[in-house]
Amino acid sequence: TAMQHPWPYPRIIAHRGGGAAAPENTLAAMRTGARHGFGMVEFDVKLSHDGVPILLHDDTVERTSNGHGKACELAWHELARLDFGRWYSPDYAGEPMATLYSVAAFTQANRIFSNIEIKPSPGAESQTGMQIALFAAQLWGNPAAPPLLSSFSETALQAAMQAAPYLPRALLLDGRIPQDWEARMQRHQCIALNIDHAYATPGLIREAHAKGYRIAAWTVNEPVRARELLDWGCDAIFTDAITLITPDF
Ligand code: G3P
Ligand code: MG
Repeated sequence: TAMQHPWPYPRIIAHRGGGAAAPENTLAAMRTGARHGFGMVEFDVKLSHDGVPILLHDDTVERTSNGHGKACELAWHELARLDFGRWYSPDYAGEPMATLYSVAAFTQANRIFSNIEIKPSPGAESQTGMQIALFAAQLWGNPAAPPLLSSFSETALQAAMQAAPYLPRALLLDGRIPQDWEARMQRHQCIALNIDHAYATPGLIREAHAKGYRIAAWTVNEPVRARELLDWGCDAIFTDAITLITPDF
């Protein structure tokens, strides 16, 4: 069995900050994750029109704010005026968009590991991968607690590798596992494979470990399934069900 890459990260990761328990990808979500004792949060980052690293899952702001339009066509001063909490619940009215700056401060102040999912706007893959890796390198100083950078976009991962080679990377896979997954991992010097849990098998996990890679699964919301994946040897799982699949699960 090959030596596996160092992995300082906890096994249970709060998806989008606070899972389903708070408006996704906001500081309120991070606080919710922290309050529930999570030692690691995942969140999605892309660039505003003027290059500010912002937390947002979708290409547009429609679903998670009171605004309209594509994030890549909106300047930070326009995004900063929007409400990213009210769509979820009136209790969160007035919650602003989160930036990588504020989340870097919050997670480090609370000793929480970060998984920065680089989620580029279409056409901005290379620029986004480079810029977010550079921001991450600048904002996270402690080499013992580096953020894990991940992306479905191999163009973004490649740009991140060029910009900040020493920050750990994970290849995100959507759907079936391609037969050339290991070549892809090598191309972007990834330490982990972050897969859709529906495609996890004991054999794949064994093979990944034998080759020295870590393996994480998203998004696992049923405790029985979480237990199964951890029993199979999954190094980490992402969950929205933060009150059922707890940090000490
Ligand atoms: O990073 C794991 C997971 O978040 C990937 O899918 O669509 O929730 O960003 P998505
Ligand atoms: Mg994500």
